[in-house]
Amino acid sequence: MTHDTLAVPAPRDGAESSARWWRDAVIYQVYVRSFADSDGDGVGDLPGVRSRLPYLAALGVDALWLTPFYVSPMADFGYDVADYRDVDPLFGTLDDARALVADAHGHGLRVIVDVVPNHTSDRHAWFRAALAAEPGSPERARYVFRDGRGPDGAEPPNDWESVFGGPAWTRVPDGQWYLHLFAAEQPDLDWENPEVHAEFEGILKFWLDLGVDGFRIDVAHGMAKAPGLPDVGHPNQVEMLGTAVLPYFDQDPVHDIHRAWRRLLDTYDGERVAVAEAWAPTPERLAAYTRPDELHQAFNFHYLSAPWDAAEMRAVVDESLRTAAAVGAPATWVLSNHDVKRHVTRYGGGETGLARARAAALLTLALPGSAYVYQGEELGLPEVLDLPEEFLQDPQRLRGEGQGRDGCRVPLPWAGDEPPFGFGTGAATWLPIPPAWRSLTVAAQEADPDSMLALYRDALRVRREHPALGDGRLRWLDGPDDTLAFVRDAPGGGAVGCAVNMSGRTLRVPARGTPLLASGPVQIGDEGADLPPNTALWWEIEER
Ligand code: GLC
Repeated sequence: MTHDTLAVPAPRDGAESSARWWRDAVIYQVYVRSFADSDGDGVGDLPGVRSRLPYLAALGVDALWLTPFYVSPMADFGYDVADYRDVDPLFGTLDDARALVADAHGHGLRVIVDVVPNHTSDRHAWFRAALAAEPGSPERARYVFRDGRGPDGAEPPNDWESVFGGPAWTRVPDGQWYLHLFAAEQPDLDWENPEVHAEFEGILKFWLDLGVDGFRIDVAHGMAKAPGLPDVGHPNQVEMLGTAVLPYFDQDPVHDIHRAWRRLLDTYDGERVAVAEAWAPTPERLAAYTRPDELHQAFNFHYLSAPWDAAEMRAVVDESLRTAAAVGAPATWVLSNHDVKRHVTRYGGGETGLARARAAALLTLALPGSAYVYQGEELGLPEVLDLPEEFLQDPQRLRGEGQGRDGCRVPLPWAGDEPPFGFGTGAATWLPIPPAWRSLTVAAQEADPDSMLALYRDALRVRREHPALGDGRLRWLDGPDDTLAFVRDAPGGGAVGCAVNMSGRTLRVPARGTPLLASGPVQIGDEGADLPPNTALWWEIEER
């Protein structure tokens, strides 16, 4: 492939590219390593993603977010980047990336790529140079090197802890320590250093020039550290993440970085966007990342973390809509990603978990704003809880923090009766796919109108076609406790209703109109609809 492929018109140039496409986009997260393998090595890759673009187009999403595919020693599966401007051979080549972006555009799909600015890999040329250089050198000044405390500086410079467990500092042979808020192989950059800013502007331009439609910004609440790197004063800082202000996360100066990036994005045509992966203690502080001169969206982890409980879910929805509206940003909704237990399992697993996940899909896709779909949730994949010990590889677990994230990263089952289910041509996959997934393959679900895949396709089609869904507002309806019921009014008249029964018994919800879609067997009559437990309904309300 040559650069010429970029001449394929991107959807952003088309008639329906209504500026602000991102306000109600459904964005599908491709965890590249586990999506589709083109060369039989058991690891997904960019040509694999490219070969499955027709599947994604048929699913009906608007954009893809590709997790990191850059040159990396894979200590954190690509979130440790050694060269931000090239593709790791495991995933393909730069030409594969160009071809993928061009083909995606040809399918009407936008492409968002991950950028990892808080830290590099320890194999990045800058970090190698820093290790080879003296304390106090310009090479070390790109990272956070400090002398230790205590006699001989043998204690870390402060009490900060790695998100993956253990101290956030590692000592180098000359006695200095460097900061790594994640694995030791992920040294934090020093964003006080102008060279770091210039380097990342160059990286963003590189990918924008290649044609990407935006960025997912990894650890967007990182980068800026409190002056003087003060102690937290508490152990178990992992438990404080996202709930308390820490001197290394969500520090106000980080917003200056995002403002600079927004200015850069705005110099490009076609509404190129950025979404923040930010863990902030409150919805207000999260919304600050999406002020008009900052990023376009931020992941809504408060929604992802909400339990299956109508009152709590409604509170999170209200709070999310309120705080997003206060800064003029769209709310976003996400149920799963490559860092958390899959929601079928989080919601209880088995039949119950699946029923709730089906209902949650209708809830999520009916809420105002933009939604993220993590690969495999459209198949109803559960977390794999019994991966054999020898396969577990996540650095989070290896450093002692939690059970690890391998179980949500198992490769997708595409077709056939036994592993690797069409994931690739090789017999083995980097994480084994459970044989029981034979009933969950894409091919199996395509043949079944009641499958999760059919539900997602239908919901995405209705969402696309119906003017009431997507961006806008919602109106709550009164209904029994343990239910959520709301209406989305279309700007030109007409409306769509959505109701979810989050209880364990059948409840009547105030749904009056024509059923559009249901996640289970629903009876709708003049008096409303009887929703079985853990079931959601969309109905159409005609214009009067
Ligand atoms: C983000 C990524 C996660 C990664 C971490 C460090 O949270 O989603 O997978 O381990 O950043 O880069």
